Formats: sequence, structure tokens, C-alpha cells
Amino acid sequence: MAEPLLEIRNLNTGFVTENGIVKALDGVSIRIDKGQVVCLVGESGSGKSVTSMNVMRLSDYDGGIVLEGEILFDGRDLLKLSQEEMRKIRGNRIAMIFQEPMNALNPVFTVGDQIAEALYLHKGISKEEAGKEAVKMLRMVGIPEPEIRAKQFPHELSGGMCQRVVIAMALICRPELVIADEPTTALDVTVQAQILDLLRNLKEEFNTSILLITHDMGVAAEMADRIAVMYAGTIVEEGTVEQMFTQPLHPYTVGLLNSIPGLEGARGTELYTIKGSIPSLANLPKGCRFHPRCPFATDRCRSEEPPLRDVGDGRRSACWYAEEVAEKAKTVMTTAGEGE
Ligand SMILES: Nc1ncnc2c1ncn2[C@@H]1O[C@H](COP(=O)(O)OP(=O)(O)OP(=O)(O)O)[C@@H](O)[C@H]1O
Ligand SMILES: [Mg+2]
Repeated sequence: MAEPLLEIRNLNTGFVTENGIVKALDGVSIRIDKGQVVCLVGESGSGKSVTSMNVMRLSDYDGGIVLEGEILFDGRDLLKLSQEEMRKIRGNRIAMIFQEPMNALNPVFTVGDQIAEALYLHKGISKEEAGKEAVKMLRMVGIPEPEIRAKQFPHELSGGMCQRVVIAMALICRPELVIADEPTTALDVTVQAQILDLLRNLKEEFNTSILLITHDMGVAAEMADRIAVMYAGTIVEEGTVEQMFTQPLHPYTVGLLNSIPGLEGARGTELYTIKGSIPSLANLPKGCRFHPRCPFATDRCRSEEPPLRDVGDGRRSACWYAEEVAEKAKTVMTTAGEGE
């Protein structure tokens, strides 16, 4: 029986700015079970990073406010914790890996010391012991000659090595949840594949749950158990990788799948780009937020907002015509994809 580790429920958040509150998330619900990898995908600006920063409660430091919702971690609502209590969880029970490894590392400390720091801080073991553990962890993430590397500074290591160090730092306390926000985007293709392999192996080894944020459906296909598709601050479809790739139930997912180079899309086509751009939450269209870009939109879509609903087989979709999307995609995409 799958046990939930993280459950984000109806999360509505925003930022306090000079012009008032700017909404960023609009009813986000995501569940991650123990040992599961959930990929959060969606275009730039859809709210993926904000979601992760809300979970870590790091948006508190950036003018972020929560308007509604819950973030249950192991049954406790993280939104009710003080920053003092969050500090005990961050880097310990929930760790984060960012896109730019260099930003996550401190240039003036050796990588060994930085990895050991978290252990020393959270687990209360001696500095010497923590240093030994750091070297072990460096070996585990595939860094050759870890004893020597541990004594080096970030600038002495390549980008790929630095990301391995960041992963070692994230995993040293054996967190139950790792949030990785575009962890391979800044790396070259070969290193990307190695880092993804590494994450997969570590997940097997430690049964860590992973929330992997990516705009790359190919990465999601390789890594995820389940995929949650985000659009304009909310989840529009969610299901297993196989379900999403064989029978997407939201037109936006169809568009995302069709935009993967080399992958045969819903109608087995060439590259298809979704027309138009993502709306801001301050200026959402009436009805379905995706309707202005949707090739299947009807009057109902233009007037009534579809809720994210169960559509069978444990899947959810926020399309009035979810059950017909796959069928429609075969025909309508033929014309919608033309003239790009
Ligand atoms: N500190 C902030 N203050 C105000 N608005 C913000 C802040 N951080 C993010 N936003 C807004 O929240 C929305 C979602 O941004 P977010 O960074 O989560 O997108 P994303 O899905 O991670 O995109 P990308 O794929 O480019 O990383 C954007 O409209 C962004 O401008
Ligand atoms: Mg982001």
C-alpha cells in the first residue's frame, strides 16, 4: 500500500509586491508517495519553482505569501511550522538540488567541509566523523579520488563534478524527500545523462522520494513514476508516465508531448509547438485557462473553468473533454500543427 510522504493540497500562493499581491499558484495539488519519483513539468513561468520554494518555505524570505492550502509532509502541515522548525527539516529530511551547482556551493569552503557541515549541523556527530562521511558520500556519487577532491574548492571542479557534490550534500543526511529543480539543465548532454543515472541509483539505494522539476518531457519519461503537468499556476493533468505518454488526457499534455524532438506525438508527427504563450495569473482568460491555445476549445471551455477531476485509473485531468482528448488529438492536431 503506497504511503503519501508529501501532499500538497489546494495550494494558493503569491508574492507581495509594490503593486499588491501577485498570485503565483492557483490551487496546486500534488502527492508524492514514499520512494516515488514525481516529475513536475510545464512551460517556463508556470509555477514549478515557486511550488518547490513554497514546500521548502524559502519563499517566506522572498515576499511569498500563502493564501490557502496545506503542504503535508509525513502528516504535518509545513505551512504551520516556524522557520526555526523548518531549519530542522531543510537539508535534513527534505533536501534541494538546484539548477546551477555553483550557486549552491560556497566558494570559500572546501567541498568536503560543505558536505560535512549538514551532517554536523543536523545529526550532531563530530566534525571528524562528518568529514569521513563526506568522503564516503563523494565516492558514492561517483567522484574519483574522493579524499583528494574533498579538500578542493568548488572552482577546482568541473560543472558536472560540482553537481555531484551538490547531490552528495543533499543526500548526506539521508533525506526522505529530495526536490531537484532542473538539476541537469546547466550541464552538457553526456553529464546530464550521468547525473540522471546517479539520481536513479541513489533513489534505489535509499528509497528516497524525489520531486523532479523539469521542462523536458524526455527526462520525465526516463525518471518519473508519475508526472504532474503544470499550466499557469495549477496542475492540469496527472498520471503515470505510461498513461501520459500513451494516452494524454489534456490537450496541453498532447502539445508538450508533440514538442519533444524525435518522439512520435499523438498523430505521429513532426515537431509541433503550442501556439501562443502562457497567461499571467493576474490576467487569466475566462473559462479554461488553456482555451486560447487549445485546438479543441468549445463554448463551454470559453465560459466554464474545468476542475481537476478524477478520470479513472488513478488519473486526473482538468479538461471538460478529457475522455475524448486522445481521439480528438489524432484528427485535430493535423490542422492545428500546420503553418507553424
Ligand atoms: N520573488 C517573486 N516575486 C514575484 N513574482 C515571482 C517571484 N518568483 C516567481 N514569481 C512569479 O511566479 C510565476 C512562476 O514562476 P516560477 O519561477 O515558479 O516558474 P517556473 O515554472 O519555475 O519557470 P522556469 O521553467 O522558467 O523555471 C512567474 O510568473 C514568476 O514571475
Ligand atoms: Mg523554475
